Amino acid sequence: MNTQILKIEDPFEESDKLLLASRILKDGGLVAFPTETVYGLGADALNEAAAGKIYAAKGRPSDNPLIVHISNMSMVDKLAEEISEDARRIMNRFWPGPLTVILKKRKAVPDATTGGLNTVAIRMPSHKLAQQLIEISGICIAAPSANTSGRPSPTTADHVMQDMNGRIDMILDGGPVSIGIESTIVDLSEDEPVILRPGYITKTMLEEAIGKKVLIDPVILQKGFCKDQAPKAPGMKYKHYAPKGDLSLVTGSDIDKVVNKIQELADEKTNTGYQVGIIATEETKMCYQNAIVKSIGRRSDEASVAAGLYGVLRDFDDEEVDFIFSESFEQDDFGQAIMNRLLKAAGYQIIAT
Ligand code: TXA
Ligand code: MG
Repeated sequence: MNTQILKIEDPFEESDKLLLASRILKDGGLVAFPTETVYGLGADALNEAAAGKIYAAKGRPSDNPLIVHISNMSMVDKLAEEISEDARRIMNRFWPGPLTVILKKRKAVPDATTGGLNTVAIRMPSHKLAQQLIEISGICIAAPSANTSGRPSPTTADHVMQDMNGRIDMILDGGPVSIGIESTIVDLSEDEPVILRPGYITKTMLEEAIGKKVLIDPVILQKGFCKDQAPKAPGMKYKHYAPKGDLSLVTGSDIDKVVNKIQELADEKTNTGYQVGIIATEETKMCYQNAIVKSIGRRSDEASVAAGLYGVLRDFDDEEVDFIFSESFEQDDFGQAIMNRLLKAAGYQIIAT
């Protein structure tokens, strides 16, 4: 299959390109497009065969459901039922934006989209290109992150090309995304709201919106899962975002100690003939030597760390390093989402200082 790439600077001025993309979607094809979080791999969510193609293109396990992207509130009622007051408040407060809600699904949503669950994941993205694509095509678009299953989510059209060239019909290149890690997922299908995946919209922000406690799926930040403790978002059980090199996180509250430990670990590996990568920050990158050092962002600005994370992991795949040692970050609000992704990428290998 020949994958067509179209660059779009202004989605309001280039509706001819969006019309081409929406024709592909209506015909049951696959189109990758940017959202504010990461690039998505889109198909018609209500077309069983089209949604099914996503799994083949990504090599994704079929029990891992997809997020349905919408552009206006009336689309929610096509997809979901039993929408609680809390759910309405949360959607009104955070949409369009980096938040996915889980609601009870309507029959019209096929099993290929929901992985056979009786709930559906819905998100209204704030990215103008994504919004225009949904508006112009008039369909609900199922879209997981546009990476091969098990690779870091794509934050540029180039990343999508690396994984999807020849496997999908079209890539809409809207430039690099702004947030860089996937949406927060909150389950609102039962009485108590539960965060299934941390993201830019935090627990505190959700609690403020509904004036009551929001739980966090306890398996999110811990290593491994017990048999009777599977995560509620099926995708969270896979070792996602895994770089090719063996990644360890070095933790500790004293950054000088962390830097020294990373240098010591890197030297040990280099001296035995391995290629070593170090994930540093703008503040620390000058401190390291004799390794491939990449800065993930500014320690003083969490958003920059999130935006840099997946790109750095992909860069290290290209460098073919054997070992990667990474600095770690505070697990406060947005930091919890960053550390959740880093811990998963590292397969929970932590070296404490
Ligand atoms: O930011 C995002 O959410 C991006 C962009 C493209 O919108 N999409 C994304 O999709 O991250 P994906 O497929 O990579 O992750 C979807 C997650 C998976 O962990 C999946 O198991 C979970 O959402 N999920 C989907 N439907 C669900 C449901 N009904 N119940 C529980 N978890 C669900
Ligand atoms: Mg994904």
